[in-house]
Amino acid sequence: MHYERPQFFRVMQYAAGADRDVVDMVSGNPDWEPPQALREGLHEYADAEPSSFQYPPSEGLRALREEIAARRNVDSEWVIVTNGAGEANYLGMAAGLSAHDGSEVLLTDPVYPYYPGKAELLGGEPTLVPTERDGSLDLAAFERAASPETAVIVLNTPNNPTGAVYSLETVRAVADVAASVDATLVVDEVYDHFDFTGEFESALTLDSDRIVVTTAYSKSMAITGFRVGYTVLPERLRDDARTRHMLVNVTSSRPAQYAVLRALRETDADYYARNRELLRERVAAFTDALDAAGADYSSPDGAFYVLARFDDFPGTMANTERLIDEAGVAGMPGETFGEARSDWFRFALVTPRVETAAERLTAFFADR
Ligand SMILES: Cc1ncc(COP(=O)(O)O)c(C=O)c1O
Repeated sequence: MHYERPQFFRVMQYAAGADRDVVDMVSGNPDWEPPQALREGLHEYADAEPSSFQYPPSEGLRALREEIAARRNVDSEWVIVTNGAGEANYLGMAAGLSAHDGSEVLLTDPVYPYYPGKAELLGGEPTLVPTERDGSLDLAAFERAASPETAVIVLNTPNNPTGAVYSLETVRAVADVAASVDATLVVDEVYDHFDFTGEFESALTLDSDRIVVTTAYSKSMAITGFRVGYTVLPERLRDDARTRHMLVNVTSSRPAQYAVLRALRETDADYYARNRELLRERVAAFTDALDAAGADYSSPDGAFYVLARFDDFPGTMANTERLIDEAGVAGMPGETFGEARSDWFRFALVTPRVETAAERLTAFFADR
């Protein structure tokens, strides 16, 4: 199987080897504190009995699944705890591809690059469907693209990299498109706590037998290294996903699940609100500077990325390396995210040095 190493790694490696100080805005690793209860849960776990260090149930700790089910208003049997949203997306796409005749996977353009990678890994054929200039969905484009060949449609809201937040009606309309060709819709909600509009609603509320919802605590609890996420699947896809999860992983990390459970129970809404506010301030500071630099940019409604375009300086890998060497700012080339934004760069606002980065970009483009 041929698979190209994700470009994230290449850019991070290049930035690490740079001969100067570089502000890292490449990956989506939150730089803020996890919930205090998560740290306490981990400390507590270190002193647990040896039996607590053994396999948890394959689908996840019962208490965690019940806690998730109660919060999401679903049956705990429908929940599979996964190794992050990454595995949840894999399970949803795999189950969808096995359940339907076709092999096409419809994705949005711009796209989170692991989706086409996963689709190909699973023997599917990714097709990119263009979105509107502001990142919102072009329903007519989905209707045109869908056919009996379509097995899976994947949406991500709030969206990486565009920052778009889709309305529930829009997600419902895409689910209708999926139904019209007997396909599965996977909705990745890993940025659900980073909605600046206050209008985000989970696709779970649609209660549809077409929709797989995937998410994780990676971003919301600032723990991308823990690998705890989950998926809620419609009944006909559940066995496939459970079996695949068990045969590939056996299960997911028990201490991590335990600590997440404790954090879920003991963390109040303020924790999430504070991090959202922090990001809102960063978005404002960064986009003000992009204005000063004369750049075109996206103002995200959610997630924590800004797309920016500079005149005569397209978002290629070569220009990404120039920004690292000459401006001291590392972003991602837009060409990584499909075709629609190949002129753009994506900057992740998960660094306290957003203002420094913004000043550096302003100075770099003023000198050109
Ligand atoms: C849209 C999207 N889905 C999934 C993931 C992976 O999430 P996890 O770390 O929980 O596997 C990311 C990480 O950046 C992401 O941006």
